[in-house]
Amino acid sequence: MGILRLSHVEIRVPDLELATAYYAEVVGMYETAREPDRVFLKCWDEHQHHSVILRFEPTYGLNHMGWKVQFHEDLDTYTDQLTNAGFKVTRFAHGEIGPGHGESIRFAMPSGHMMELVYGMDQVGNLLPLTNPPPKPLNLIGFAPPRLDHIFITCEDVGLNTRFLQDVLGFHLTEQILGDDGFQIATWLEHSHTSHDIALVTGQDGGLHHFAYWVDDWTAIRDVADVLAYHGVHIEKNPTRHGATRGHCLYFFDPAGNRNEAFTGGYYVDPEEPPVTWTEAEMGRAIFYFDGVVNQDFLTVHS
Ligand SMILES: [Fe+2]
Repeated sequence: MGILRLSHVEIRVPDLELATAYYAEVVGMYETAREPDRVFLKCWDEHQHHSVILRFEPTYGLNHMGWKVQFHEDLDTYTDQLTNAGFKVTRFAHGEIGPGHGESIRFAMPSGHMMELVYGMDQVGNLLPLTNPPPKPLNLIGFAPPRLDHIFITCEDVGLNTRFLQDVLGFHLTEQILGDDGFQIATWLEHSHTSHDIALVTGQDGGLHHFAYWVDDWTAIRDVADVLAYHGVHIEKNPTRHGATRGHCLYFFDPAGNRNEAFTGGYYVDPEEPPVTWTEAEMGRAIFYFDGVVNQDFLTVHS
């Protein structure tokens, strides 16, 4: 029981039509609902109603991140754990805060990031039949990731927020970058037995570094770059590999300035496995294993 995986992100965009065009035609997500100031989208292999919500606001950044819980009673269990730890929790009924949305609770991390746990999101089906399906639809557009994968946020006190995720929400620490002073510069944590579902790096509270789409393999990372280049989307970091998580990746921006990643690889972990530690001297290799360095632009925070 408990948190299964990242469910959705709600991000701010100052031009709803431009952002929707990018997420629908370049990324290749599918619009499932629309309100005057919000557009709801899902990836082709996702069954739940939405995984990305675009909200019209005159800036960019993260409004909240949602996590899927397995059972309805998980909402009560986490409410108790959060309340006992001194956090204020607000509960919402099914559909109360958006079309297709499940029953949920919301609270703020110590860093101010709004988190939501959701149960019972409407299931609208992926784009395949449930009997004798082909491996993927043949009419996909954009780079068409099958699903959302993880989120990377910034906060002033990585250690404090990492302990919150571990102690109150039961996340498991998989990797960390430790500063020479012993403080955590960055951490990676999971609930889904993968290398990470969320990561934290030192920066301003409430910031979004990026959210990532899963793609199937290293060749698919190349194909994402093909699509982005064709559409004239700026690729911040060409296909490469992380040291931390061992993942393959590339980075780019939506028209609003929200950083996106396409990610694959990594590894499976059991909850009792100890974390991998990277030293401050090897931080560059932890982030970009081949380069061995990470430039300051990549550490730019977006809130
Ligand atoms: Fe990432």
